[in-house]
Amino acid sequence: MNEILITIKSISHFTFMCLLFVMLYLSIKKCFLKNKKIRPVHIITILLTNPLIMFSLSAGLFIIIYTVSLRSKGYDLKYIESYMENMSFSSGITFSLMTGFVYILLVLLFSYLVGKKLEAAHISLVTYIYLMFAILLALSDSDSTTKSTFGSGSAVLLYSLDILNYLALIAALLLIYMLVVKELAKMSDDNILINRKLFVIPPVIFLLFYFPTDYCLYDFAGAEATMVSQFFSVIVLFLFIWAFFIITKNINATNEAITAKNDIKTLSVEVMEALANTIDAKDKYTNGHSIRVAKYSRMMAEKMGLESDACENIYYMGLLHDIGKIGVPNEIINKPSRLDDKEYNIIKTHPGIGYDILSKIKSKPELMRGARWHHERFDGRGYPDKLSGKDIPLESRIIAVADAYDAMTSNRSYRQYLPQDTVRAEIAKNSGTQFDPEITEYMLMIIDEDKEYVLHE
Ligand SMILES: [Fe+2]
Repeated sequence: MNEILITIKSISHFTFMCLLFVMLYLSIKKCFLKNKKIRPVHIITILLTNPLIMFSLSAGLFIIIYTVSLRSKGYDLKYIESYMENMSFSSGITFSLMTGFVYILLVLLFSYLVGKKLEAAHISLVTYIYLMFAILLALSDSDSTTKSTFGSGSAVLLYSLDILNYLALIAALLLIYMLVVKELAKMSDDNILINRKLFVIPPVIFLLFYFPTDYCLYDFAGAEATMVSQFFSVIVLFLFIWAFFIITKNINATNEAITAKNDIKTLSVEVMEALANTIDAKDKYTNGHSIRVAKYSRMMAEKMGLESDACENIYYMGLLHDIGKIGVPNEIINKPSRLDDKEYNIIKTHPGIGYDILSKIKSKPELMRGARWHHERFDGRGYPDKLSGKDIPLESRIIAVADAYDAMTSNRSYRQYLPQDTVRAEIAKNSGTQFDPEITEYMLMIIDEDKEYVLHE
């Protein structure tokens, strides 16, 4: 009978661990790495911040230190082995406490080390969730230690209560997981402000679910065991609260840094959009051209599966691609009739002028690329440098397609925007000559998906 119960208990313990691992893995993938690929550093983070692995690691470290210290006092290795196996209750508590200390030190050290590679807010949150789970684990472990030492009453009852305890833990974990993930999902990739609710939800659920079943168990384990185990639990809790305190401080600092960074970013985007409108205001026929080109370029970049940072940069490059028009006289830009050769040559200076202006922005060196090469053609017949094929930077090849699309789909003084099928046919016709054929495919996909033809001026 006991063997069956122990098997059931082991299976429930194993399922519990698997569930824990899967939930943590999913929460990281779903919330933290939405638009990013999982890299080895993320996997290592997940593995090493897993309470089970870290706890084994800390226990192993502690055993090594303990064994070495006993060996240095001249104890026999065989004696140490049997001593470990027959550990008394008080040395068991010392062992768990020391392991707990090593565990917290490892978690803090590790979150500090990895936090440099991943974003600090990510790692703080991951560590926080793991610690929350670790509390549950530590408490469930402490009461089973108590029971194995002071266990009284029927084994069937104790094991049944143990399984009940695990069920309560699983229910609590599922609820914590669901609520925490819901809160985390609200934070976008570039705005990782941490919600205070995340700190309230887990302890409340923990109290609601865990303590009632826990007390139920203590009743059967004897009053003395309850006192010792509660004392132990309080110490463990104190250590974890201390760890939370450090992590919260880290999160606060990260929040402030992120807010400051976001403010600067918003200001930069607003300044760039204002600049784009200034360029467009010079040309009375192409109102809003730059912002539309930026938008279409970003859509193509997203379709091509570029990373979110790259898509954002293409948007900025699109905004400022025509900034060189500032240096072209208004009469030429707004001339209603056909330009003569001399005037056309002046127009052709705008990519170079734009390049010179944007080369002063040292923090975003890619901006000047978009300005200089957006009039290059895939077959090498463009200007100003007659680059061809993949020699033209990818972003400029994307902007070139978006630029042509907007020219055809916006109103001019002499005509309305062109019908969608005409625009599509024109873009397809120039694939491989004017445009990069691979990029053209993505623009055609966007056009085909735009059934209502909303993508025009
Ligand atoms: Fe241009």
